[in-house]
Amino acid sequence: MTGKILVLGASGNVGRPLVEALLAKGEKVKAASRAGKPIGGAEGVAFDYADRSTFSQAFDGVDRAYVLLPAGYADSKGLLLPVIEAAAARKVKVVFQSVFGVDADDSIPYRQVELALEKSGTPYVILRPNWFSDNFHTFWKVGIDHGEIALPAGDGKSSFIDARDIAASAAAALTTSAFDGQSFNLTGPEPLSYADAAKILSDVIGKPIAYRAIDDGAFVDILIGAGVPEDYALMLASIFYPVREGWTAAVTDAVERLTGTPARSLETYARDHIAALTA
Ligand SMILES: NC(=O)c1ccc[n+]([C@@H]2O[C@H](COP(=O)([O-])OP(=O)(O)OC[C@H]3O[C@@H](n4cnc5c(N)ncnc54)[C@H](OP(=O)(O)O)[C@@H]3O)[C@@H](O)[C@H]2O)c1
Repeated sequence: MTGKILVLGASGNVGRPLVEALLAKGEKVKAASRAGKPIGGAEGVAFDYADRSTFSQAFDGVDRAYVLLPAGYADSKGLLLPVIEAAAARKVKVVFQSVFGVDADDSIPYRQVELALEKSGTPYVILRPNWFSDNFHTFWKVGIDHGEIALPAGDGKSSFIDARDIAASAAAALTTSAFDGQSFNLTGPEPLSYADAAKILSDVIGKPIAYRAIDDGAFVDILIGAGVPEDYALMLASIFYPVREGWTAAVTDAVERLTGTPARSLETYARDHIAALTA
């Protein structure tokens, strides 16, 4: 593996620490974003999922790629399948960031992207991260500001994962062939309810934060009121069903198997992101 590594979503939650981790390993990285500016010291390349004319420049000189769909896009198959096809046509190894739990049902669009990758004939690794700890300083930050996180999660638990551990797992999968052809369900170290998480965040940032369980309809109304498109709001509400059912509470050792280091706790995440959580 002597070519460059293309990182899609390179300025995002996982992409940015992944670019850093790959550069630290001495890899040559092409950091993709729509603007195509250099990111974290890596060469930048302009890429747009919705514009196939940007693909050949992005894949030029590349033998491995990290493929993810940025947040905010509901049509995972429509946007990801052409990227998988473009990678496979060039025999580029793909490490694909999927979503925890999608392998439960082959009719789930994300699972169909996984299946297409598995059948494509190109080397691959599939990473399925659970809910990101980082959502607390991004999607749920407004709730933290107001002292109340309101979600349709019931009292279901999730083993929240730090984006840095996803990035470290991705860096491992991209820089050795030892994990090729395998899928990994990436989790944090412990199952926590949103009430548990609110307590941990309160203690770390020194301000009371409550959790209120709401129903899907109220959640969708809040999102639409905040400017989120309706199809994406409905998609977000639907993915809390597995949380309420307890399916996101599982804990795996996949981060440690890939990286040699145990996954970070939510408390560690909160301590390291105190500035973002209180901004
Ligand atoms: N959050 C969670 O709890 C969670 C859990 C499991 C799985 N996931 C999955 O993780 C993925 C999100 O990962 P993430 O949070 O690391 O991503 P992210 O931060 O949302 O990624 C944003 C990046 O994508 C780029 N981007 C946006 N639109 C683009 C377009 N049309 N073409 C090319 N680049 C574009 C942005 O750069 P520019 O704006 O400069 O183009 C930026 O680099 C989603 O697929 C989600 O399903 C999330």
